[in-house]
Amino acid sequence: MITRKTSQQIATMRRAGIIVAEMHAAGINAARPGATTNAIEAACAAVIERRGAKSNFLGYHGYPAVACVSPNEVVVHGIPSDRMLVEGDIVSIDCGAIVEGWHADAAITVGVGEIDETSQRLLVAGQACLDAAIERVRAGYTLGDIGVAISEIAHAGGFSVVREYTGHGIGTQMHEDPAIPNYGRPGKGLKLRQGHVIAIEPMINAGGAAVRELDDGWTVVTADGSRSAHFEHTIAVGPDGPEILTLPL
Ligand code: MF3
Ligand code: CO
Repeated sequence: MITRKTSQQIATMRRAGIIVAEMHAAGINAARPGATTNAIEAACAAVIERRGAKSNFLGYHGYPAVACVSPNEVVVHGIPSDRMLVEGDIVSIDCGAIVEGWHADAAITVGVGEIDETSQRLLVAGQACLDAAIERVRAGYTLGDIGVAISEIAHAGGFSVVREYTGHGIGTQMHEDPAIPNYGRPGKGLKLRQGHVIAIEPMINAGGAAVRELDDGWTVVTADGSRSAHFEHTIAVGPDGPEILTLPL
């Protein structure tokens, strides 16, 4: 079932989204050479605590943290640990929050200190994929229009698109219908209408598209060990186009 949210419900989701943006800022600030991925988790957890919000990640199917912290070859769902970040790494910070029962979810990938040119291009392409997708979060566009925008930009940069994981509807649950693939065909799939709220989350790899899950049951890595970038926002279809709910105030 795909629900449509009222402007008041969307306003509450934006309150959750502002907290998520603040968690990202704190996590990015902690993502320095020598820091562990646990330190990024701690920075995100401190924000959610200070804001009196609830985490939608902690306890989700037993997930043990408020953030997924995914360095280099980790695509998504990296569990915070004592893994140390070093200069030249990239790291994705994915987290969410709940305010008055309404969810927000977003991810960003950043460099740790100076990064090489390919990594820079990967991050720019990943952000461009998300930006192009968001531009199509308008009544009348389809999920295929969104997917094709993402895959075309990734491929133009020489990167590949992960197909096993998708974005999703979001509202009173973190994961609602519909699934939002990062590939598609123009004009195909569900047509967006005002009040739909979706999380779009391209995952693009510097090497091949294949991924595998580690034995911990969470961590997803590229099959070839190449680097991967992940960007996500929660976006509403507003009366005048896309409304990004996970931006800072
Ligand atoms: N942000 C992820 C998503 O969009 C959710 C991570 S799963 C969790 O699907 F268990 F870590 F919460
Ligand atoms: Co998500």
